[in-house]
Amino acid sequence: MCGIVGYIGKQEAQPILMNGLKKLEYRGYDSAGIAVINKKDEMNITKSKGRLSNLEDKLAKHVLEGSTGIGHTRWATHGEPSELNCHPHTNSKNTISVVHNGIIENYLHLREWLATKGYKFYSDTDTEVIPNLIDYYYENDLLEASIKAVGRLEGSYALGIMSTNEPEKIIAVRKDSPLIVGVGKDEYFIASDVPAILNHTREIIYLEDKEFVVLTNSGVNVFSLDGEKIEKEVHHVTWSADAAEKGGFEHFMLKEIHEQPKAIRDTMTSRIIPGQPINLDNISLTQEEIKKIDKIYIVACGTAYHAGFLGKYVIEKLARIPVEVDIASEFRYRDPIITDRTLLIVMSQSGETADTLAALRDCKAKGIKVLAITNAVGSSIAREADDVLYTWAGLEIAVASTKAYTTQLITMYILALFFAENKKTLTTDEIETIKKDMLTLPEKTEEMLKHKEVLQKFASNNYMHKDMFFLGRGIDYAVAMEGALKVKEISYIHSEAYAGGELKHGTIALIEEGTVVIALATQSDLYEKMISNVREVTTRGAKVLGFTAEGNTSIEKTVDAVIYVPKVTDILLPVITVVPLQLLAYYIAVQRGCDVDKPRNLAKSVTVE
Ligand code: G6P
Repeated sequence: MCGIVGYIGKQEAQPILMNGLKKLEYRGYDSAGIAVINKKDEMNITKSKGRLSNLEDKLAKHVLEGSTGIGHTRWATHGEPSELNCHPHTNSKNTISVVHNGIIENYLHLREWLATKGYKFYSDTDTEVIPNLIDYYYENDLLEASIKAVGRLEGSYALGIMSTNEPEKIIAVRKDSPLIVGVGKDEYFIASDVPAILNHTREIIYLEDKEFVVLTNSGVNVFSLDGEKIEKEVHHVTWSADAAEKGGFEHFMLKEIHEQPKAIRDTMTSRIIPGQPINLDNISLTQEEIKKIDKIYIVACGTAYHAGFLGKYVIEKLARIPVEVDIASEFRYRDPIITDRTLLIVMSQSGETADTLAALRDCKAKGIKVLAITNAVGSSIAREADDVLYTWAGLEIAVASTKAYTTQLITMYILALFFAENKKTLTTDEIETIKKDMLTLPEKTEEMLKHKEVLQKFASNNYMHKDMFFLGRGIDYAVAMEGALKVKEISYIHSEAYAGGELKHGTIALIEEGTVVIALATQSDLYEKMISNVREVTTRGAKVLGFTAEGNTSIEKTVDAVIYVPKVTDILLPVITVVPLQLLAYYIAVQRGCDVDKPRNLAKSVTVE
């Protein structure tokens, strides 16, 4: 969702900005633009609707010269995707330009107020008020004018600001939208996310809300809203630049599916060691606090919500603590019952999802402990939670989440075992058995990657369908939800997940000759019941791809094709079952010619409500 890049240094800004924007494509966008200040202190701006290649074509004809610049990929919120609404936006005199990620909630009021002062507006965006507000306050000090202008903004924002009056300067500030600062050698950067600048520097400053950073050719200074100077720590990021490349795979999604064995292994390393208690990275929750917990809320969005859904089954089964899973945008407005015995777990790949962050803040304000599970070190959610457990999935670029999901599942098991240990709801032997099996998951996930041919064949026979149904019971239902989401996200086929037993209460009316059903029957205690559900759909003409544990060969009598998942403690099977579901969605999307890594209308990181 909207990507920002800014550069100041000795090199030409345009190629660096374009390269950075390309690295941010995964966030989702529908138009893009850059502004560069040239040697004559003029502001030159080029914008284009659609993909970055359109912008590149324009820039090939008219290079923007200069070594101070800001760039933006826009994901439309206010105003349609068009050149007019595309960023950077400027004041009428074209002396101040601004790129913005977020939503200015009081922009209509500000726009009307600025209009009374003679300002004119040309776009439908909320952003356009910002350069004009800065212009209104400008008295030969861009920082001071920016501070005054930002003081009047309500909503969320990450901003990059430049002015021809102070051409060797970029000002940036954030509130509830991600923005980082890169510190290079005689060159400095701003960006929505680390990959945008990884080719240039790994030294990163994470900004807190309402901290202003001033980038000049000679360094970076950070100020508070009161104009006080703030000392900031510079963090060294260890990701290699290769993490943001496809490494021979056709798409990032395929690469990331294949990275799951490693991601799972990395997430377990040092936390799961046979014969030793679960090691939870020094989280502050004490045994006393854990014993006191009588309710856990797991709050998340999208794929992370699905991982939370599995977390409910797992924590309730292993640690016997009641768990409610909630969609963050619902949770924050539904007045949930929260007491001093409640624990909130927020789960987010990006650590920046607006609704999840808001749920975290609401609960912290009510004084309860918040444990975050995230993949993004230094993200807002990681910084603001009381405790953090990182999923060590590595950089995930494809919009449709894969390795972040499986590592979120792993974290759910680790946490459930940790609670079980502390609450003594399982014996040491029972815990050790699960741990031992967990350690086999990377290699079992690897095995699942070998089912490509069956999946490719199923995809090429069925990619043209309008609907798909995913059925499962118990934890298979949780996995079915994620399988259906993957298909929906990247192939635009209507796909729905249903609990097997619920089918006959309505949905079965949709099953007809040739309807595609994916049936998950991996759980031994629910196997027979699931097979009955499968029969209900095959009798009505459905074409079924079944998933079950090795040895359950009787399924072959009922389904059209089958994928066997290797034997492992039943409760762990979702981790390996989801892998072929991800591959299936991938192959279907490829067959349909969809843009797998950047599906239409979607954003990787949803930083607005
Ligand atoms: C967006 C992404 C999804 C993701 C969801 C939650 O909708 O497209 O892939 O699952 O946000 O993101 P988070 O970063 O909080 O896990």
